[in-house]
Amino acid sequence: MNRRNLLKSSLSLATSSLLASPANAQKLTQGTSKKDTSANASLGRRKLGKLDVSSLGLGVQNMSRTYQTTIPSRSEMVNLIRTAYDRGVTFFDTAEAYGPFECERILGEAIAPFRKKVVITSKFGWNIDQKTGQRLPGLNSRPEHIKEVVAGMLKRLRTDHIDLVYQHRVDPAVPIEDVVGAIKELINEGKVLHYGLSEPGPQTVRRAHAIHPVTAIQNEYSLLWRGPEAVILPLCEELGIGFVPWSPLGVGFLTGAIDAATRFAPGDIRGMESRFSPENLPSNLALVDLVKRWAVQKQASGVPATPAQIALAWLLAKKPWIVPIPGTTQLGHLLENTGATDVRFTAEELRQFNADLAKIEVKGERLPAMVLAFSDVEAPPRH
Ligand SMILES: NC(=O)c1ccc[n+]([C@@H]2O[C@H](COP(=O)([O-])OP(=O)(O)OC[C@H]3O[C@@H](n4cnc5c(N)ncnc54)[C@H](OP(=O)(O)O)[C@@H]3O)[C@@H](O)[C@H]2O)c1
Repeated sequence: MNRRNLLKSSLSLATSSLLASPANAQKLTQGTSKKDTSANASLGRRKLGKLDVSSLGLGVQNMSRTYQTTIPSRSEMVNLIRTAYDRGVTFFDTAEAYGPFECERILGEAIAPFRKKVVITSKFGWNIDQKTGQRLPGLNSRPEHIKEVVAGMLKRLRTDHIDLVYQHRVDPAVPIEDVVGAIKELINEGKVLHYGLSEPGPQTVRRAHAIHPVTAIQNEYSLLWRGPEAVILPLCEELGIGFVPWSPLGVGFLTGAIDAATRFAPGDIRGMESRFSPENLPSNLALVDLVKRWAVQKQASGVPATPAQIALAWLLAKKPWIVPIPGTTQLGHLLENTGATDVRFTAEELRQFNADLAKIEVKGERLPAMVLAFSDVEAPPRH
């Protein structure tokens, strides 16, 4: 393997990662299993385009491998997803690339008892061999490949339809018209209900939306990375497209779990992101101070809140069509994150918060250059 492919492989491994250290993992209580109880707790509902979902979702990316590169207990992950459902989460996010395949299998097993009551999303688009799960270089959104991937997803997710399927990254070799054409065929066959795009170029969104309405865009968005505010969020508002922030907790940073002394394990992608470098971490921690300060302020006003909840509540307050999907492998964190829907800001609090936020300059890149190169890409024209 040459150096470039080696780097790509280690990036793939890092980007597919998940979870929490077993030492920290709490024993999970048994979530809803055999019985088909509908979601007990209410988190409120939101609309992504025409798709109705819980106000907060759950990302399962790290359920086969944590960011710290540990492997979580599969049965605990199944129980965590079922507990999320018991807490009112009805929106679950996965991708063929997570594992690859394994997170779809975990999600499929977990939701089987209540499949009809939840919305599941998955993603195609990376170049993954469908027989072996081997990661091949680059992207693959050729129409015949998309159909093969979706056929595999349906088996792994134990379902006859996927509620929302995303193109994981725009393929610079395939016109978006061909991609949407394949998705429309899958929609006509009832195998897919809605579709979205992850980290697309804005013109590609317009072209896709003109052929068939885009339900959601999924991009990184949080207090740590506010790039979508420039073009993509206004575009969503204009076209009536929902927005799903990935890494809404800043890959854990906004919870206070990372400090100036933190160094990352080999294979943890965060160690390759210059925003977390030893040079940039100390000043970027001003953001953590901000959410900590607001958590204390909320507590003092009688609303229990944690830094993670403040970070999620800020996203929820932005627009009613934003639905964050925090990822966790720990029950305590799940319960904490779902509690964010109880944390509200008044208009004056938001003004103050945003004024404080505006004073903080985040230093460093959000992703390694080789991964970032796949974002904000426009699909080629169709000849
Ligand atoms: N479309 C894309 O390209 C893309 C890219 C990345 C992610 N995603 C999706 O977005 C989802 C979420 O993103 P993410 O997992 O990268 O980042 P995230 O949700 O911002 O943060 C997850 C990290 O924070 C930790 N954490 C979660 N809740 C916590 C809490 N209350 N207190 C302390 N630590 C906490 C988790 O560890 P524990 O397990 O220990 O809780 C994990 O390390 C993924 O699962 C995936 O579905 C999509």
